[in-house]
Amino acid sequence: MATTLPALTPVEDSLFLTLCCRALDNRSPHPVLGDEIADEIVRSLDYDYGRLHLNTDLCLNVALRAKKIDEVASRLIARHPDAVGLDLGAGFDTRSARITPPPTVDWYDVDLPAVVAARDDVVPDRARAHTIGADVTDPAWLDALPTDRPAVITADGLMGFLAEDDLIALLNRLVDHFPSGEMVFNGYTRFTIWVARHARGTKSVAAEVKFPGMDDPREPERWNPELTLVQEMLISRQPEIAQFPRVLRTYYRLQSHSTWWSRKGTLILHYRF
Ligand SMILES: C[S@@+](CC[C@H](N)C(=O)[O-])C[C@H]1O[C@@H](n2cnc3c(N)ncnc32)[C@H](O)[C@@H]1O
Repeated sequence: MATTLPALTPVEDSLFLTLCCRALDNRSPHPVLGDEIADEIVRSLDYDYGRLHLNTDLCLNVALRAKKIDEVASRLIARHPDAVGLDLGAGFDTRSARITPPPTVDWYDVDLPAVVAARDDVVPDRARAHTIGADVTDPAWLDALPTDRPAVITADGLMGFLAEDDLIALLNRLVDHFPSGEMVFNGYTRFTIWVARHARGTKSVAAEVKFPGMDDPREPERWNPELTLVQEMLISRQPEIAQFPRVLRTYYRLQSHSTWWSRKGTLILHYRF
């Protein structure tokens, strides 16, 4: 029997956008990410993803950005097996199951309390994976985390929901809390924020998008001098574009020749501190 979820706010409900994209990617003949657990969760919830008006381009972008964030997080954890892993605004994502950190890593999935309560019913448990139900803009939630281990911080689809001042305060708190760490998340330029406010697929959360967009990936270095940009990854330049259907492949290959144009699409930002 399908699990019934409590009513979620539009911001909380946005977790289905990304979850269903990953599930649909898994059902394609050649998945980019191959997230079987996302697929199982969507099936178990009997979620009507038809109402999300997802298209192939969006699903591929969501799957590929998750894969790129996973790859960076996996490499960092391999270098820091004593790390604390964090997924901010985790929704029902099962990043720790995809990257399978060693048992020396404690992994924390953080999201708003209603999401975490539902997540605990829906997402399979894993050893040393913990959940924290909190608003990430509230300073108190970090108190539960160790202060003496390096941090591997991920966030996928969160930044757009945070006002710029809240994002800056969050980054400052993370940098202050941990002795060192790296963070990797998908970025939003002013253009992609405009798209999030106007596209059909994100209509339900258009009014909740608070971030103005960031066109310069070095901007966080000015917010906090401890932060150093490690890399900006433009989706158009990733090898997995070869797996995209012909029309999309041609589009992204053209786009890849221009950084300015590529920044109009999905990008991943990676910083260390
Ligand atoms: C687009 S969803 C992405 C979910 C997940 N990262 C994924 O890739 O499936 C955005 C998530 O951010 C969460 N979120 C938004 N604002 C938040 C906040 N202030 N504190 C904690 N979580 C937040 C939402 O509840 C939602 O689960």
